[in-house]
Amino acid sequence: MPLELTLAGDDVSGESLVAAAIDARTRAQAKYSGFQVGAALETADGAVVTGCNVENATYGLTLCAERVALVKALSDGRTAFTRIAVVADTADPTPPCGACRQLLWEFCGDIEVILANLERTTATLRLSALLPMPFDGRLLE
Ligand code: THU
Repeated sequence: MPLELTLAGDDVSGESLVAAAIDARTRAQAKYSGFQVGAALETADGAVVTGCNVENATYGLTLCAERVALVKALSDGRTAFTRIAVVADTADPTPPCGACRQLLWEFCGDIEVILANLERTTATLRLSALLPMPFDGRLLE
């Protein structure tokens, strides 16, 4: 069963968030790439919404773990976010793809992004560092 948890509020290192992403990764539907990803998105009130990548025989319809977590959260009425953890089984950080960066920026703003593998956190940075010159709604005003 998916892990449902609420962070205690003192989890500054994001350990629980990474643990939730590691757990979500076990449910990845990644039979075409074999590359399993888990994500855990923390809401402003301390809840955690997880996602895993979901692939498809048409490849292009693949959903990344980050976007799965985001749309799950939004469709449950959760609209304020603080951090996201992304986990893959790689030595170096696996950062969100460009499409995920754009969508995270749209709905989460400049959240903290925690990148981890199965053993440790490999990087922690702000989304603005990953998407330094975003196209967003301000340009449409
Ligand atoms: N993937 C993610 O889920 N998140 C990322 O941050 C990078 C890529 C997935 C998409 C695809 O299922 C697999 O990893 C290989 O690209």
